[in-house]
Amino acid sequence: MPVREIVLLGDPILRESAREVEAFDEELKVLVRDMFETMVAAEGAGLAAPQVGVPLRVFVADVRDEDGEGIRRFALVNPRIVSAADEEDRAAEGCLSIPGVSEVVSRPSAVVVEAFDPEGRPVRVEAEGILARVLQHELDHLDGVLFIDRISALKRRMVLKKYRKLREKEEG
Ligand code: NI
Repeated sequence: MPVREIVLLGDPILRESAREVEAFDEELKVLVRDMFETMVAAEGAGLAAPQVGVPLRVFVADVRDEDGEGIRRFALVNPRIVSAADEEDRAAEGCLSIPGVSEVVSRPSAVVVEAFDPEGRPVRVEAEGILARVLQHELDHLDGVLFIDRISALKRRMVLKKYRKLREKEEG
């Protein structure tokens, strides 16, 4: 299965609201397989379909539990948050579409997400810690929201300045 190209900040697809998946067909399964390969190759903890140029409400996640008890690796289709904790956690986040930079983001410490698996079966995920963070970050991607939207304007300017410098260096 091919690794797909990850689109970077500046591509308008990252700012669009993605469409609901209507058919749990072979095309969806191929997309999910490719997204897993792409995420693993990029060493990411999550990847949303818009990040590979596909405007559908699908993401994959690959999260190690905080106690080191194994890895939760799954794909969610048409996910929605059905409840979120009042308490917030602060932790550093990065994004495969904004490589090389990270910043501390505050988010609800726990969420319950309802979705479908790629076969169309309903799933419910009760998440806290890193998993809750990854789920919220990836869900944001489906609404055109990036982690840099959830930090102060001052921090955003600093992150974007650093990011532009890194890209200039890379592009020589
Ligand atoms: Ni991201």
